[in-house]
Amino acid sequence: GRHVVTLDDVSTAQIRELLHKAQYIDAHRKEVAHTCEGRVLATLFYEPSTRTRLSFETAMLRLGGKVIGFAGAQLASVTKGESIADTLKTVSNYVDVVAIRHPKEGAALVASRASSVPVINAGDGGHMHPTQTLADLATLQSRFGRITDLTVGLCGDLTFGRTVHSLIETLCRFGNVHFVLISPDELKTPRYVIDRIESTATCSYTEVRDLSSVIGDLDVLYMTRVQKERFFNEDDYLRLRDTYILDTEKMKLAKPNMAVLHPLPRVNEIAVEVDDDPRAAYFEQVKNGMLMRMALESSVVGDELPGYEPLEPKEL
Ligand code: CP
Repeated sequence: GRHVVTLDDVSTAQIRELLHKAQYIDAHRKEVAHTCEGRVLATLFYEPSTRTRLSFETAMLRLGGKVIGFAGAQLASVTKGESIADTLKTVSNYVDVVAIRHPKEGAALVASRASSVPVINAGDGGHMHPTQTLADLATLQSRFGRITDLTVGLCGDLTFGRTVHSLIETLCRFGNVHFVLISPDELKTPRYVIDRIESTATCSYTEVRDLSSVIGDLDVLYMTRVQKERFFNEDDYLRLRDTYILDTEKMKLAKPNMAVLHPLPRVNEIAVEVDDDPRAAYFEQVKNGMLMRMALESSVVGDELPGYEPLEPKEL
């Protein structure tokens, strides 16, 4: 179907096309402003969000479509005991595309199976966050001109970090990436993600605890927040939350063209002083997130961008 539960639902050729479309959209905002006229997006957000919900919604509005939905499940009928499946059997009568965020892993898959219109996973618990990965790929493409042949450090909460899982899964498909997995022992990368790297002939990984000793090797440093909402035990969270703090001192050890990414929100893991460093790319990611969601939304509902020329087969 046209659902996007993980980026495995999108072919590598389609991912390249989406990257190309996002660049076109950025340069032709007026021309694309009526692309999705008459379409309606539903955002069903059972978990807090700033960037993902607002950019999904802005993306549809900037394409000329409209938006309905809820932010925070307390006002929806889930509080009366309604299932995700019944919610989607209902909402998919109203709209052309649904974006869903939910605290439980697998919620987006359940939603997609019950829906008659495309469902896009906007984050399901500690599992996957495919549209964040689209923003990350667009940022790598614009910084390096490529999304392969990179040494990518991922730092922080690699157990529950759904953005990390989606990004690793997707970079493995394009290949030629060395991953440096930087985390405390309690927050290491899950087995199903490691399996993905190990089954990719052109990819490799190392697991380390210390950031300073490896930062000089990295082309990309993907920082993540230790996520309070995923912990069962507050003491564990308090003990681990400040394990990594990227500041200007640590940045002195990094390559002059390293890119610092972070899906945001951040708490303490990147000092605000780093924002002024030209290597800080996390607010570019935010902009790319909206552009990639515009590309994805128009694609899944089947609306062509006026004046857009698809990539040649050799570029896919
Ligand atoms: N990156 C991201 O998913 O941010 P929000 O939780 O604010 O949507």
